[in-house]
Amino acid sequence: MNMRIAPSLLAADFARLADEAEAVSEAADWLHVDVMDAHFVPNLTIGLPVVESLLRYSRLPMDCHLMITDPDHWAPQYAEAGARNVTIHAEAASAPIRTLRQIRAAGARAGLAFNPATAIEPYADLLPELDMVLLMTIEPGFGGQEFMDMVLPKIRRARQYIARHGGDIWLQVDGGVSEETIELCAEAGADMFVAGTAVYGAADPSAAVKSLRDLAVAAAGRA
Ligand code: DX5
Ligand code: ZN
Repeated sequence: MNMRIAPSLLAADFARLADEAEAVSEAADWLHVDVMDAHFVPNLTIGLPVVESLLRYSRLPMDCHLMITDPDHWAPQYAEAGARNVTIHAEAASAPIRTLRQIRAAGARAGLAFNPATAIEPYADLLPELDMVLLMTIEPGFGGQEFMDMVLPKIRRARQYIARHGGDIWLQVDGGVSEETIELCAEAGADMFVAGTAVYGAADPSAAVKSLRDLAVAAAGRA
């Protein structure tokens, strides 16, 4: 299994986004961008105009995580702008199937995200519409929170669903992923890891990405 590391720009210097993206462009696999609307989550970050600008500078494929109230309206536009993965929240989408199809039709991978308290079981039939499942390991909205290990059984269940379904569906974890927690996630079946504080809070972000990947690869090998 390929282990992918996606640094989250949420922990970067927002006045220097292009430079911060460049700082991880050799080591990372994807660049994770958190779009928040101060409504679905209490925090406010960036929206489509900034993502469009960033897409012109970033050499990494962009993974847009939409923590917004109206993903049905906005998600396809992120895909059309050039984001290579667009993830919407199960709790927010009112027409998830239509929206996921529109994301794919615009040429991006389509992801569905679940807050820690949201069960994945009611969404099992949506797997054919998905390229990625994102399991939040914190309550979304802010970086630097503590990893919730109560989500680990859900990661294991999601991996079983994906294995049964087959195909190229990635299992992403987001929130509190660090050198202390990434092995637990990889052993449970995650294969894509978002890390904000653990990457941009490190003295050498690029070295931090490599060490996270090494830990994930080793842990997956043991699982
Ligand atoms: C929070 C965001 C995360 C955030 C994770 O809602 O979705 O991507 O950047 O930050 P850390 O890695 O610091 O927990
Ligand atoms: Zn995120």
